Amino acid sequence: MDNSRGEWSSKIGFILAAAGSAIGLGNIWRFPYVVGQNGGAAFVLLYLFFVIIIGLPYMFAEMALGRSTQRNPVGAIEALKPRSPWKATGYLGLVTAFGILSFYAVIAGWTVGYISKMLSGRPGGFAAFIADPLLVILLLALFLAVTALIVHGGVAHGIERWSKILMPLLFIILVGLVVYAVTLKGASAGLSFYLKPDLTKITGRTMLAALGQAFFSLSLGMGLMITYGSYVSKKMNMVTSGLSIALFDTMIAIMAGLVIFPALFAMGKSPEAGPTLVFVVLPELFAMMPGGLIVGAFFFLLLSIAALTSTISLLEVPVAYLTDERKAGRKTVVWAAAFAAFLIGLPSALSQGASDFFTNFGLLPGRLASADFLGHMSFLFGDLSLALGAFLISLFVGWVWGAGRAADEIQSGSPGFARARNIWIFMIRFFIPAVIFVILLNLFGIFG
Ligand code: TRP
Repeated sequence: MDNSRGEWSSKIGFILAAAGSAIGLGNIWRFPYVVGQNGGAAFVLLYLFFVIIIGLPYMFAEMALGRSTQRNPVGAIEALKPRSPWKATGYLGLVTAFGILSFYAVIAGWTVGYISKMLSGRPGGFAAFIADPLLVILLLALFLAVTALIVHGGVAHGIERWSKILMPLLFIILVGLVVYAVTLKGASAGLSFYLKPDLTKITGRTMLAALGQAFFSLSLGMGLMITYGSYVSKKMNMVTSGLSIALFDTMIAIMAGLVIFPALFAMGKSPEAGPTLVFVVLPELFAMMPGGLIVGAFFFLLLSIAALTSTISLLEVPVAYLTDERKAGRKTVVWAAAFAAFLIGLPSALSQGASDFFTNFGLLPGRLASADFLGHMSFLFGDLSLALGAFLISLFVGWVWGAGRAADEIQSGSPGFARARNIWIFMIRFFIPAVIFVILLNLFGIFG
């Protein structure tokens, strides 16, 4: 085994890095708008339910694959089932990492731009902001360059060290914002929308939206947890690590809602604004509050930090593959991969008004994705290939590698897992693939 591969220096380092991957735009930008569009508290309950019964057990499967083989997604599958078509599942993960990174870094770039927009006292004009070609390209390049700088530092010294600084900072800023928001006059209507479930709001569509959000938010379905799990030592307790990661991720999403809903209702706004919620409605709210622009600048700083620990993880997956399997030098690989993500990200960056061609791309039917190129990328890589990847990986672990062997790997370092072993085996072989299959059907519009 190549002993130049990195390893987390401590359990808490691994947990913070993996939680840093999970916590991102998905928690703070996507979660609140999806909750807003799906009726509030009932959706939140369903989401929690899916995190626990699907997300968490599936996460153990990815971690076990990684730790058992000490390899990237492609290498892990090759090690357990050499020269089989299953290897394609690993390659799908690599392609998905580039696909998500390319559009995710575009949105992350906007959050950086909004820090200075808040500070300069011009919070409005979102549509003009994202249509400025030079600006969005510069922000995309900047965000990927910072990501590459950190990943370039390696596993323990780069990713782990930065996660240890950034994650607690993120948490502190968020606590301050929650206190600020829930004490606003009129906050209680927002709190009851967000926390008092109206179970009549649960429909088949809501259930699928909650499940998809759980996957995206926990960074599951493309082998990220295989890659991060491959840097975990054999002694580490995967069960308690996984529980902490899911707990942190969920806590941050719930707190983001505790900022956004009280604020929205206090200002008499609708929660159904959709993807523009954070960028259009919130800056308006911040502008109306005394001292709100400073709060707003903190909010976007928070979003940028959260997005950065996620882009770091997305870049690490192809980097791990290229350094393990192609024996390329880490530094060259990091900068080459970031540059590739930049090139793939250009059409997404230009698709919000800067270029007519990419703005009205319209290759996929409107019921699947919005017409712009970024919407297409988000559907193809953020929804479709994550679901497909998770489906294939759970089948691979459950039936090809063998659920018993995977359970042994989880159990080493986590003796208490013995009691849940049989339930987990049932989940990974039958329950999880079946549920994901239903999501896939939904993506193709089978349920309307
Ligand atoms: N989970 C991150 C978020 O919520 C996004 C993300 C980072 C991701 N790495 C991933 C999603 C890997 C799926 C797979 O913003």
